[in-house]
Amino acid sequence: MTERLAVGVLISGSGSNLQALIDRMADGAVPARIAVVISNRADAYGLERARAAGIPTRVIDHREFSDRESFDQALVAALHEAGVALVCLAGFMRVLTPVFIRAFAGRLLNIHPALLPAFPGLHVQERAIAAGAKFSGATVHFVTEEVDAGPIVVQAVVPVLDGDDAATLAARILKQEHRIYPLAVTWFAQGRLRVAGQRVLLADGQETPEAVLIQPGG
Ligand code: GAR
Repeated sequence: MTERLAVGVLISGSGSNLQALIDRMADGAVPARIAVVISNRADAYGLERARAAGIPTRVIDHREFSDRESFDQALVAALHEAGVALVCLAGFMRVLTPVFIRAFAGRLLNIHPALLPAFPGLHVQERAIAAGAKFSGATVHFVTEEVDAGPIVVQAVVPVLDGDDAATLAARILKQEHRIYPLAVTWFAQGRLRVAGQRVLLADGQETPEAVLIQPGG
């Protein structure tokens, strides 16, 4: 058997997306393994999830560094030490500099709780509701130097319902995040993703949005 793709996961909080990856790797759906989980916060609950799964963890606290670049260099060193071939940002709430992004160019995925390019940045559920959007969703994309703007691998759509607040919408979106992040990592691990400009194709020629249409509310 060939060695499974080694993934590094960066978190800052609850780590429910990390848990989805752990679970789908454990049940064999995602042909990869998590080599290290790194958090910039010692109190991130996701660290507990990683420990419970027997995954090595590191805390690299951004407040201990004088600038963003030296923090990023420490992250890169820890990920190289763990021998990762793919890095997944999973609720990692620090903006990364080119020092980091260039080190993992083409091997760096992020999940964002909106349908990019709509609603990049923070407080996206409040903003989608305030804008009167009828749909929102989740996006897995390759990370480039422009924040929340890299080539889109897969998206899932959910309705914005009358009476939604940020928490109810976030919960509906999160459920879909847990479906699409493992899918994107699977495609990457299978070597099937091809980036053509801003568009991501599957190696068999299918474009990913057509490959997986996730129904609103599904
Ligand atoms: C997720 O909704 C993720 O998309 C979002 O943070 C949440 C983390 O949840 N990420 C961002 O907003 C990145 N800008 P989790 O810790 O339970 O996976």
